[in-house]
Amino acid sequence: RRRRRRRDAEDERKRKAAAVIEEVEQKFATPTALLRGIADAMVEEMERGLRADPHAPLKMVISYVDNLPTGDEHGLFYALDLGGTNFRVIRVQLGGREKRVVKQQYQEVSIPPHLMVGTSTELFDFIAAELEKFVRTEGEDFHLPEGRQRELGFTFSFPVNQTSISSGTLIKWTKGFSINGTGQAFYLVPKKIYVSVGEDVVAELSRAMERQGLDMKVTALVNDTVGTLAGGRYGDNDVVAAVILGTGTNAAYVEHANVIPKWNGLLPKSGDMIYEKMISGMYLGEIVRRILLKLAHDASLFGDVVPPKLEQLFALRTPDVSAMHHDTSHDLKHLGAKLKDILGIPDTSLEARYITLHVCDLVAERGARLAAAGIYGILKKLGKDKVPSDDFKTHRTVVAIDGGLYEHYKKFSACLEATIADLLGEEAASSVVVKLANDGSGIGAALLAASHSQYAEAE
Ligand code: GLC
Repeated sequence: RRRRRRRDAEDERKRKAAAVIEEVEQKFATPTALLRGIADAMVEEMERGLRADPHAPLKMVISYVDNLPTGDEHGLFYALDLGGTNFRVIRVQLGGREKRVVKQQYQEVSIPPHLMVGTSTELFDFIAAELEKFVRTEGEDFHLPEGRQRELGFTFSFPVNQTSISSGTLIKWTKGFSINGTGQAFYLVPKKIYVSVGEDVVAELSRAMERQGLDMKVTALVNDTVGTLAGGRYGDNDVVAAVILGTGTNAAYVEHANVIPKWNGLLPKSGDMIYEKMISGMYLGEIVRRILLKLAHDASLFGDVVPPKLEQLFALRTPDVSAMHHDTSHDLKHLGAKLKDILGIPDTSLEARYITLHVCDLVAERGARLAAAGIYGILKKLGKDKVPSDDFKTHRTVVAIDGGLYEHYKKFSACLEATIADLLGEEAASSVVVKLANDGSGIGAALLAASHSQYAEAE
């Protein structure tokens, strides 16, 4: 009788797990018809954002970049790339059309955690000091003409209200607030304070450079998407849009000046809020954790006690999800090891490990398919979703993508690419290329510093 009772309990547990999974499957489903609807809504919302409708959910931010690199850029330029827990300093010697990038050097610096919650002055002083050290190691391969000031392109990957190519104020100081993507609201504790909202980031950086005795002028302030677009275009003339799929998600493309009421130029759109949160690296791990937690609660997936670590916000990061998701061993031993190391769950059943794998799949697939719909929407907006019949053979459209999520989470990027191809249809898909623009934003900012140089007129 006891054995029978145990079997009944086991059946009950399995039934509950299946019910939770079924519910998630339903909520996370992204049938192609839905994706097409999202792409159309994206086009509509982009247009609404362009009309500067104050209630438009999609902010269309003007970059004030009025020309993308041509290849003729010449001279020594610096870039600073700040967007997360690391920043990079870059210098590049540009040799014009023939020689292109003659030499390039960069250095990555991690930001000490205490500076991430300190004052903006402390943070910018630290960055300027590192930049000053980097400038001192310039060496003979780099050459600045007599009497010229060094110039810098500043990639700042946060929402900024640009007021010119080289000035702008921060709109908000973090990558995330709240999400309602899994059916329950959760709130993120903002981690980073870079500058106070409303301050001109270039003015702040410039003052810090002055304090370090560093004579350098910021000639371009750019979002990472705009930097990637510039770097991508420099390397490939057919690049029409840039997308970041990393900690956050965002895109930039070139818009016709006459459709923008306020001004003209390039335009990064920042796809914000829930859509971004269902896609980005910052959240995928957390979404998986929440589903596993529900399974632990409702269906004792990891035994009778809910593992305490599983209750911790952000205990599971997206790179861990990626590692689990890519486990191809028949008994999912790597996935099991992750559950043990990261969530403190020692002995998982094979069934629990397979369910976990399935959850990773559902979350990553939803993110990748939604991202694909957004990219397809941008292509539609650009009129690049169809091949004009007269230039069927030569037509080529390139989307440059950067970001750790796209670069490292292979199942995510494979699903993204397959979905874009599926939405485009065979003929159009054959002319659209999606490619990794690794570190494009740093060099892109240097290139934009060059094309917007204070000396550019004199050349
Ligand atoms: C976040 C930032 C945005 C950036 C994107 C990609 O969405 O707000 O400025 O472009 O992440 O890094």
